Parts: sequence; structure tokens; C-alpha cells
Amino acid sequence: MTKYGAFPGSRPRRLRTTPAMRRMVAETRVHPADLILPAFVREGIDQPVPIEAMPGVVQHTRETLKKAAVEAVEAGVSGIMLFGVPEDAKKDAAGTVGTDPDGILQVAIRDVRAEVGDDLVIMSDLCLDEYTDHGHCGVLDADGRVDNDATLERYAEMAQVQADAGVHVVGPSGMMDGQVGVIRDALDQTGHEDVSILAYTAKYSSAFYGPFREAVGSSLKGDRKTYQQDPANVRESMRELALDLEEGADMVMVKPAGPYLDILAKVAESVDVPVSAYQISGEYAMVEAAAEKGWIERDKAILETLTGIKRAGASTILTYWAVEAARALR
Ligand code: PBG
Repeated sequence: MTKYGAFPGSRPRRLRTTPAMRRMVAETRVHPADLILPAFVREGIDQPVPIEAMPGVVQHTRETLKKAAVEAVEAGVSGIMLFGVPEDAKKDAAGTVGTDPDGILQVAIRDVRAEVGDDLVIMSDLCLDEYTDHGHCGVLDADGRVDNDATLERYAEMAQVQADAGVHVVGPSGMMDGQVGVIRDALDQTGHEDVSILAYTAKYSSAFYGPFREAVGSSLKGDRKTYQQDPANVRESMRELALDLEEGADMVMVKPAGPYLDILAKVAESVDVPVSAYQISGEYAMVEAAAEKGWIERDKAILETLTGIKRAGASTILTYWAVEAARALR
């Protein structure tokens, strides 16, 4: 048959004929151990509080958080990323509860560590926005601007109290310049040289964080554009990446995930450390909302988003579907 004869000379469809064939030739597999569960724990509640914009996700009580951690272990999930939600009255300009050894996040780290030990990698958000009354990720100067270097001093203290509480990995998410280096020093100087840093390396200023702000009861007015990255930029991420590695990041993260797969692929190509991607609250909410309306098939859509993130180069994925997806993948 000639090259342009009546029949195609090459038939890629042969490798798509049966489920077994497709499974055999699949280039990407999502494994439960790739997944990390972000979880919220709120002070002063005795029942979990549903988060309206994230159907199926709750603000945990200390007790239900422990149960969630056990479920994550049983499902084969690798890690849990903890976010603390203090009582509103305890928020102040400096985010004092973020460095209180009895602050909600530190208490939750101790609870989870006591419950599951080393069976789960226990991670903590290292940022001030959950604790400040103005809702910014740092402390403010006299003109109301986020003060980078004064914030670094607070982050150093946070690293120490979180490590003292027993966390395995801290996740600095505030996008302050120099944060990874300062945190590494603080950990090393306080005998926590084994505590790892998962650096939020390329964290974009995203509209998709909306539901998270409800999840942590954030009082932020305005935006985070003077510290989080502009969605238009790629080179800036490569610069942040070089700095984080130089300052001692053990793992790096790209966030959000879905709208930034090009950044994820580029970061993954150029590093020799594990790369995480954070599928954030708005990505979760979009799928849940469309599924609720009957506009997409929920379970298939979820798996497709996770496969796409893995295919782009993520070693691990932070996702609110971690436990459910891990069970489905087993
Ligand atoms: C900052 C932080 C945020 C998220 C994780 N860490 C919010 C922000 O930067 O505004 C967002 C996570 C999500 O949207 O799921 N502490």
C-alpha cells in the first residue's frame, strides 16, 4: 500500500482497544503515596464545621483531625499539611498565636504526632495569615505595607515552635524574600536539623484561593500582589527556585496546580529535589460545583486533574481529595 493509499499505514488506535491494553501502555500513574492531604483544625469548636465553598471539606475539631489523620494513613496517603484556625478574638497584628506553643496549630501537630507517629509525614503551614487580624502573611510597617524582614523574624520563631511540637516538614507559604534561609538557620540552631522544608517556591497571586480564605476565616482586605507572584510570569519562578534551593529547600512546590502546569513542568525538569504541586481550594470547588450541577462526571474529572498534575512532573500532590482518591486508586 502506498503512503497515501486507501488505508492508514499507522494505527495508534491499536494500543487503545481494551482497558487492559490502555492500562499497560499508560505513561502516568497516580499512586496513593503521591498524595498529601491539607487539613484545617479550628480552635474552640466541638463539632466539625463544613466549609461552604468546599463541599465535603470541614474545619476539624482536635478530635476529628486525629481521626482524619488515621484515615489518611489507612488509605495510603503520604502526608498531611496542617492549617490552624484560631479563635477570632486571639488574632492580632503580629499573629501572636502563631508562635504560642499552645496555639492551635502547635497543639494539633502534637495531637497528630501522638496519634499516628511517623506513619504519616506531618507538615505544617508556616505563615502568619491565619493569625493576623489584618489577614496578611506578614507583619506590617508603619505605612501598612508588609514588612519583609520583620516578618522573617516571626517566621524563624514559628519554625522553632512548630518543630518543637513535632512536625516533620514545615511549609513556608508567605513568599517573603529570604524565608527559606532564615527558617533553615532557626531549625538548625534549635536542634531541629532533621526537620525538612517544603518551600512554596512558585506561589502565584491567584483568584482560586477564594474558598481557602473562608476555610481559615481570613479577614484579608485587598490582595497579596506585593508578595505573591504575577500569573503572567515564568522567569520569575525560575529565579525563586534558584533562591530557595540555595537557601536550603529540601522540596519545592508550585501553587496553584491546574492553571500552572507549564510552570510545574519547567520546575520539574530543572531540579534534583522532589517537586510538589498544590491543587488548591478553588480548583477543588470548581469540580465539585460543576459536578453538583450534573455538568461533569465528578470522579473521572478528579482523577483526570490528578493525572494531569502528575504527568506535568509533580512528585507529590497536595489535594483535598487525597483520601478519597487514594481509596479509589487502591
Ligand atoms: C497562606 C496559604 C494560602 C493557601 C495555602 N497557604 C492562602 C493564600 O495565600 O491566600 C491556599 C490554599 C488553598 O487555596 O487551597 N497561608
